[in-house]
Amino acid sequence: MSNSANASTSRAPAQQWSTRISFILAAAGAAVGLGNIWKFPYVAGENGGGAFVLVYLFCIALLGVPMLMAEVLIGRRGQQNPVNSMASLAREAGAKPAWKNVGRLGVVTGFLLLSFYVVVAGWALAYIPITATGTFVGLQPQEVGQMFDGHLQQPLPLIGWSTLVLLLTLGIVGRGVRKGLEKAANLLMPLLFVFLLILVGYASTTGHFGEAVEFMFKPDFEKLTASGVLIALGHAFFTLSIGGGAMMIYGSYLSPQVSIARTSILVAILDTAAALLAGLAIFPIVFAYGLEPGGGPGLIFVTLPIAFGQMPLGTLFGTLFFLMLSVAALTSAFSLIEPAIAWLTEKRLMSRFKASVLGGSGIWLLSLGTVFSFNIGADWTLAGKTFFESLDYLISGWMLPLGGLLMALFTAWVMKPEATAEELDGDSAAYRLWLVLIRFLVPVVIMVIFLQAIGVIKL
Ligand code: PHE
Repeated sequence: MSNSANASTSRAPAQQWSTRISFILAAAGAAVGLGNIWKFPYVAGENGGGAFVLVYLFCIALLGVPMLMAEVLIGRRGQQNPVNSMASLAREAGAKPAWKNVGRLGVVTGFLLLSFYVVVAGWALAYIPITATGTFVGLQPQEVGQMFDGHLQQPLPLIGWSTLVLLLTLGIVGRGVRKGLEKAANLLMPLLFVFLLILVGYASTTGHFGEAVEFMFKPDFEKLTASGVLIALGHAFFTLSIGGGAMMIYGSYLSPQVSIARTSILVAILDTAAALLAGLAIFPIVFAYGLEPGGGPGLIFVTLPIAFGQMPLGTLFGTLFFLMLSVAALTSAFSLIEPAIAWLTEKRLMSRFKASVLGGSGIWLLSLGTVFSFNIGADWTLAGKTFFESLDYLISGWMLPLGGLLMALFTAWVMKPEATAEELDGDSAAYRLWLVLIRFLVPVVIMVIFLQAIGVIKL
């Protein structure tokens, strides 16, 4: 373990997580989000289930965990916002100051990602009252589908819901590390897991649990395509929040005594558990009502409500489901704006309040692009993709993996091994394993993804 902060001064205690558990909960809060509950079940469903899940688990363990450690390490040693942390570690390593652009990339990525994240989180929030008032009871499948489409058609309510998500986010983040982020994570994360377990219990008693378990865990490699493997890989980065500066800023609030390896592994386990539990809460219900597991992005907004409308106590548990989804999305939203807030306050010397207002306004404006992608701007397309699809593709397909790659290269090849050893308990076997994975496996695999994406190689 480290005596850290050689590269700069340590943060004041009020600017640190008060306990190791608080960091784990906040980082798990960043990791567990729409990616776990909305995206994971539907991409697993679209890619045939079991074999996809297996590849995803391998990606998390062999690539995700080492990358998460690398990002937390940079933040913890840098002790500042991503831009300054990268700058001071580059200085410490005698490397070019241009490395601070990796921090800038992280801040921008988080900012852009949040602009569409608040919109999808807004759908989740909107579905709480819709479900609670029994709207889905007795509806025909096509009526539920029409409702979702109708919901997307109206820009004003969508803007209202995403604005609410943003205000809730700023309300928490504006209070700072201990009073805002830490308090919220300590309260919301245990609640989230309790909700998830209740929903899995409900699904196992009312749905086809065995069929769901088989679908998720019995690998059928016939169903797995090369593009499925790439999706599993990209999703592993996305779900662990790697490459967007979120884990770097959370790492910068971590005290030097805490083991980065152990906490990162725990965060990855919690994140994976949340995704698998979400699958076990959703698929039994989907199968029990003879619905399609490969329903795409509409899986939880259309397929699931169809089932909730017919199930005993469906209104109650459906409401709980969307409440849980909103909580998961919110704790991730905090981590997406925190890098920008920290950068504005530390670098531009703004108050946290001012930084929140400024950052929030920018995100709000940009979020309109995503809102309009589903209605008045549905035909403003670039290479056949709407604004929302282009942004998602740019961020999930390029910016997050690129950020992750650069952070991996930086810790593996630019930082002095003595520095990384100091942060990661250098005598341990875990450190040596990390070094091998981060130096060789991680960069090679990410480069292969890029080469395949630009069509240089075909997988
Ligand atoms: N991991 C979050 C999710 O699964 C998304 C996220 C990505 C959050 C990058 C922060 C940074 O929804």
